Amino acid sequence: MDGNVFEPRNIIVTGGCGFIGSNFVHYVVNNHPDVHVTVLDKLTYAGNPENIAGLDPGRVELVVGDICDAALVDRLVCRADAVVHYAAESHNDNSIADPAPFVRTNVEGTFTLIEACRRHGVRYHHVSTDEVYGDLALDDPARFTEETPYRPSSPYSSTKAASDMLVRAWVRTYGLAATISNCSNNYGPYQHVEKFIPRQVTNILDGRRPKLYGDGRNVRDWINTDDHSSAVWAILTRGRIGETYLVGADGERSNIDVLRAILRAMGRDEDDFDWVRDRPGHDRRYAIDPTKLRRELGWEPTHTDFASGLEQTIAWYRDHESWWRPAKEATEKKYATQGQ
Ligand code: NAD
Ligand code: DAU
Repeated sequence: MDGNVFEPRNIIVTGGCGFIGSNFVHYVVNNHPDVHVTVLDKLTYAGNPENIAGLDPGRVELVVGDICDAALVDRLVCRADAVVHYAAESHNDNSIADPAPFVRTNVEGTFTLIEACRRHGVRYHHVSTDEVYGDLALDDPARFTEETPYRPSSPYSSTKAASDMLVRAWVRTYGLAATISNCSNNYGPYQHVEKFIPRQVTNILDGRRPKLYGDGRNVRDWINTDDHSSAVWAILTRGRIGETYLVGADGERSNIDVLRAILRAMGRDEDDFDWVRDRPGHDRRYAIDPTKLRRELGWEPTHTDFASGLEQTIAWYRDHESWWRPAKEATEKKYATQGQ
């Protein structure tokens, strides 16, 4: 914050029962003992209170509710120092099948939160995605920077782009004390089985064949979710108000390479998977240039060995079948109706 360090004591983490939000809650509990966390989560199909179960109830409180509920949001925000906003409808394929909840939660929900932060003068950090920048060609040497023009492709990414724009306008017009981060693809524990890595790992554990979209050459820029958490903490406490920071860890890999790495790590033949229908409008490649975050805030990722991160993630799913089992059947049924 303009050279100063912001030291929050009471933070609200929206979406703290989802994948990245819950990993952030664990990160805060483990690394910042003076901070109390209020998780505000609606517990949609993607939210699971088990993700934060067992944490000291004196440090972490769960409020089950909707970020679009203005009265509830106001009651919580008025006694907080900061809001870290993760809650979202987050899955591209779902947004193609039914975009309505994406517009409501991602746009109206963000509006509700920033209005409350404006009213009460509360610091706000907005967690967003690299997908707002659209995609890059496979042979393009460029990576996304904070100056790349917005060009979202999917209903999901367009609602995230809209929410980023609301935050930028609230900073300029009302002086909202806000920062924005746009991160690349996260991997790690507690990720829903609808997403690429957990879907393939649990398919293999379940005796099903992994499913690869299109030609499998699409590239994603993978980052361990713990490194995303440390980046968000750095931006929340030391980032400059009104600024956007891109978060990435130089992890570009094609989907087919990631899938083959999973198959190898799980002792299966590299070609033991099915090619399935491509995602409509499928973004080709994402790639983040994190220079600003590194130079300005001195942030560095610590989990840079993707192979060992992937092995730990596979081991987590192997050891936590009771966590993913309840969602698996319905998820695969939905994919089957989409030819995926
Ligand atoms: P997720 O789908 O795993 O979790 C979303 C959480 O938000 C769930 O706990 C859900 O119950 C909650 N939620 C949904 N609607 C809500 C509402 N109306 N009110 C309150 N809570 C609600 O998502 P994720 O993958 O953990 O992503 C979290 C955030 O990070 C999102 O904003 C996403 O855009 C962003 N992001 C994700 C990635 C990624 O790789 N997954 C990368 C960059 C940015
Ligand atoms: O880049 C950040 C984004 O990463 C986040 O904003 C999103 O919330 C998050 O879901 C993720 O979006 P992707 O669409 O990149 O992630 P997903 O896990 O759905 O898919 C990753 C890649 O794998 C993508 O190219 C599609 C492909 N895929 C996906 C599934 C589920 C497959 O080939 N097979 C599959 O079964």
